Amino acid sequence: MMALRTLLLISLLTVLEGSLVASSHHGCFVPGSPLNISRNDRGLQQVVLISTYSFNNQSNDAFLFKPSAILRAQRQIVKGIRYIVDLEISRTVCHKRHQNNNLSKCDFQPKGRLHQTFRCHFEVWLVPWENKTRFLVFLCKP
Ligand SMILES: *[C@@H]1O[C@H](CO)[C@@H](O)[C@H](O)[C@H]1NC(C)=O
Ligand SMILES: *[C@@H]1O[C@H](CO)[C@@H](O)[C@H](O)[C@H]1NC(C)=O
Ligand SMILES: *[C@@H]1O[C@H](CO)[C@@H](O)[C@H](O)[C@H]1NC(C)=O
Ligand SMILES: *[C@@H]1O[C@H](CO)[C@@H](O)[C@H](O)[C@H]1NC(C)=O
Repeated sequence: MMALRTLLLISLLTVLEGSLVASSHHGCFVPGSPLNISRNDRGLQQVVLISTYSFNNQSNDAFLFKPSAILRAQRQIVKGIRYIVDLEISRTVCHKRHQNNNLSKCDFQPKGRLHQTFRCHFEVWLVPWENKTRFLVFLCKP
């Protein structure tokens, strides 16, 4: 948990920096085109996990959310690896205030008043050899 918190903090701190770096590299580097990747891709799973923690940290909902579907998963090599992901993230039955939740054990809310799904688009840039994780875009809407 501590490692994840640290990772998330690093990623949040570098959000702004990330967009600056991305644009400054824009003119002098021709990136590969984005390619579809498997839902089982380890890097994809990692960035989905990071974005889930980030979503939960930023929402003021009483419950934790977790991914319910991955609609698009692409990877692009741009001085590191850029993941482009569309996913659905839904409310679970786990209360945020319980500190030791294991998200993989949290069921989704049943159909009804508390059932809710957001659709998120995010782009994350990983520079593995510098341990950098940067959110370039992170948008969610109901
Ligand atoms: C969650 O966000 C707050 C600010 O909104 C920040 O102070 C806190 O460090 C974040 N927690 C984690 C685990 O990143
Ligand atoms: C990539 O994935 C999207 C959504 O999953 C799909 O619509 C598209 O046809 C795929 N493209 C290729 C080249 O496989
Ligand atoms: C959460 O639960 C899953 C499935 O039971 C288990 O594999 C995983 O190790 C647990 N994670 C933590 C941090 O306890
Ligand atoms: C990246 O992180 C790993 C473990 O978290 C560490 O062993 C490694 O030295 C780090 N590399 C850099 C370049 O900071």
